[in-house]
Amino acid sequence: MVEIPQKIKELLIEKVPVAVLTGAGISAESGVPTFRGKDGFWKQHRAEELATVDAFMSDPELVWGWYQYRRGIVNSVEPNPGHFALALMEKAIEDFTLITQNVDNLHARAGSTDILELHGNIHRNKCIKCGAVYSKEVDVNQKEVPECECGGMIRPDVVWFGEMLPQQTLQSAFEAAERAELFFSIGTSAIVQPAASLPIAAKRHGACLVEINVESTMLTGYADEFLQGASGDILPIIIKECGFE
Ligand code: OAD
Repeated sequence: MVEIPQKIKELLIEKVPVAVLTGAGISAESGVPTFRGKDGFWKQHRAEELATVDAFMSDPELVWGWYQYRRGIVNSVEPNPGHFALALMEKAIEDFTLITQNVDNLHARAGSTDILELHGNIHRNKCIKCGAVYSKEVDVNQKEVPECECGGMIRPDVVWFGEMLPQQTLQSAFEAAERAELFFSIGTSAIVQPAASLPIAAKRHGACLVEINVESTMLTGYADEFLQGASGDILPIIIKECGFE
């Protein structure tokens, strides 16, 4: 069992401002494939080849098909103990910010209420032409790309490579990172910008930086504490040892 350093528990029990950045790894134990792991390929394509405007414009059905496949997965899985532990942490700590790169909605399903979704949400769609947002879920079996009333193609409302992140959300995320005295980077390879800069910004502003990951990443050398293991194992231990259950 992973030993949780005393310093982390003390900061949590003192209820200092906390910010958390999650990536695909936190949902891996729910059965959602990560982007860069061995399961992170779909029909031999890498995420970077599919999650772009160019890919969508040149082969809309291929990109739409990838999102329909991923929607099918996220609809069929459940949040895991890592998601639930973060929902409990939010309840226990007044100044707590959950920032996620995930589009799978599993944090919300686990009970987290205030979530900064940096890369959008896979359940929403929007028109590429007029920008109309469609919040109603599309049947995952629908293979054709839907068309908006204005005639434009409808795409998933997620952030693709080369696109801007929602600016207000990003600003709130940086403010939370800079305010945090304790920052957790959980289940992310910490290479996709600008999300990867959040742990660095937190540390520069004095936070204790804790990384939870099954393997080391670009961030590990910079972290104050590296807790190696599955987030679904480690986070519930932290919650239990801090009495946040
Ligand atoms: P990655 O697939 O790059 O990284 C997942 C990380 O989770 C890896 O470092 C794994 O070691 C770790 N991991 C796997 N299982 C774990 C577990 N059970 N517990 C803890 N850690 C675990 O995914 P992200 O970092 O989220 O962006 O990728 C960032 C962005 O790149 C995504 O949001 C997406 C992608 O392309 C866009 O689509 C714009």
